[in-house]
Amino acid sequence: MKVVVIQGPNLNMLGIREKNIYGPMKLEDIHAQMKSFADQNKIDIEFFQSNLEGEIVDRIQECIGDADGIIINPAAYTHTSIAIRDALSAVQIPALEVHLSNIHQREEFRHKSLTAPVCAGQILGMGPFGYHLAMVGMVQILNEVNAMKQAQAAQKQMQANA
Ligand code: DQA
Repeated sequence: MKVVVIQGPNLNMLGIREKNIYGPMKLEDIHAQMKSFADQNKIDIEFFQSNLEGEIVDRIQECIGDADGIIINPAAYTHTSIAIRDALSAVQIPALEVHLSNIHQREEFRHKSLTAPVCAGQILGMGPFGYHLAMVGMVQILNEVNAMKQAQAAQKQMQANA
C-alpha cells in the first residue's frame, strides 16, 4: 500500500509563518511523524510540496497506477483551484484533505473548499495532529477498499465456477 502526501503553497514555511495560526512545527517534522506511522503500518509513503498549482496537478496525475491513497493539504489553492479539484476527481484514488487551521473560523474566503467535495473526507483545525488522523483514516479507507476488492474477486470466482 502506498500513500502520497501532497502539500500546497507556503506549507514549506511552517515553523516560520503565522505560528499563532499554524503552530511552531516544521513540515519536515510533521513528515517524520507520518513516516514513522507509515513504517509501523507497513505503508509506503512519499512526500511532495509545491508552491505551483500545475506541479500539484502533475503530481496528482502521477499517482495513477502508483498510489493507493492521497493525503492533501492544497493550502490556499483549496479555495481557488478548479484544476486541482479536477485532477483529484480524474484519478479516482481515495483522497483525504487536511487543514492545520479551522478554515471555518477564519476569513470568509477560506470557508469554501473547492477540493473537499471530491475527497473522501476532510480533517481540519487539529494542527499537525490532523495529518496523523489522516493517516489513521487512510488505513481504514484502504482496508475497506481491499476488503471490497476481495469480495468482488470471490464473487467472480464463484460465478466462473457455477
Ligand atoms: C491551510 C488553510 C488555508 O486557508 C491557507 O491558505 C493555508 C493553510 C491550513 O492548513 O490551515 O495555507 O490549508
